[in-house]
Amino acid sequence: MAQRVFNFNAGPAALPLEVLEEVQGELLNYQETGMSILEISHRSKAYEAINRQAEANLKDLLGLGDNYRVLFLQGGASTQFAMIPMNFLPSGQTADYILTGAWSEKALKEAKLFGNTHVAATTADGNYKRIPTFEEIQLSDDPAYVHITSNNTIFGTQWKTLPSFGEVPLIADMSSDILYKPFEAEKFSLIYAGAQKNLGPSGVTVVIARKELLENNPKDIPTMLRYETHAKNDSLYNTPPAFSVYVLNLVLQWVKSQGGLAGIQKRNEEKAALVYHTIDNSNGFYIGHAQKDSRSLMNITFRLPSEDLEKTFAVEAEKAGLIGLKGHRSVGGLRASTYNAMTIEGCQALQQFMLNFQQKNG
Ligand SMILES: Cc1ncc(COP(=O)(O)O)c(C=O)c1O
Repeated sequence: MAQRVFNFNAGPAALPLEVLEEVQGELLNYQETGMSILEISHRSKAYEAINRQAEANLKDLLGLGDNYRVLFLQGGASTQFAMIPMNFLPSGQTADYILTGAWSEKALKEAKLFGNTHVAATTADGNYKRIPTFEEIQLSDDPAYVHITSNNTIFGTQWKTLPSFGEVPLIADMSSDILYKPFEAEKFSLIYAGAQKNLGPSGVTVVIARKELLENNPKDIPTMLRYETHAKNDSLYNTPPAFSVYVLNLVLQWVKSQGGLAGIQKRNEEKAALVYHTIDNSNGFYIGHAQKDSRSLMNITFRLPSEDLEKTFAVEAEKAGLIGLKGHRSVGGLRASTYNAMTIEGCQALQQFMLNFQQKNG
């Protein structure tokens, strides 16, 4: 078998090796059913159990009770950009968006198709190097909801303290940092995340929402785009992405085995510190994109003295078994995605590579 690499891709991203081995072990015969999970009916008892467990495990990790539900949908986080205003932005009201990067801009663009919107804060000036301060946020009068992006995958920034706006429903795109540490999930009316970074394989999108938002959605929108449809049918209205939900459930069990969110946080802080420390002690050879107080623990963005060196870095890193480090074109440079499944060994290997690279080229 070819040796496994350290995968720093932004998503789809690394999965825990233990999870992959478990999938491999039961791929041909899932729990004595005589079938692969890839072949099983979504109406079978075996799949219904997975579906139920995945919801329960996620609620358990987030400390959520009976007033919340978890839905497993398709269409990626990008479909949520549209479903949210379709379901929750009545005509005559305004939805507030806080812009912290390209993904929040895309969410806003979809909302504009359905109703009035207001930009409550933006850090576009300066190419999204930072998260706005609470003082900078100016809500509209009586917004239908406020939307934030908790972690900005492309720019490498992250809300350190999640905001809250009293009675105004708060909605978050947590695609690239859900479950990276404990947080007060009850602050949010709805959280959504494409699974392919911290939760599992692509193909499933997780929606965690207060129950009252999953009832009485507008009747004039397509059935598949109403949250109520999926809530009433326990995410089994139509054929679900069964394999993705199955792997997601194994990832949730793995998170629990790592000491839950507190254990995962410790590991993530240790990992990110290895890379940020190397940037900060490089005498300016490595330059971080994000302002220090807004740095993400999940996506570490940095530049080198020239674009040529950045290219060489990515090529040589790949030869050394460190893949997926090329940055997004809107920031340039390099990006190391250090999601939950990235190991400490992976970040140590990256640190060593950065030190050697600087010594040769600095
Ligand atoms: C923060 C954020 N939101 C949304 C998306 C889009 O997700 P999807 O590809 O699942 O539609 C991404 C993808 O990278 C992302 O990082």
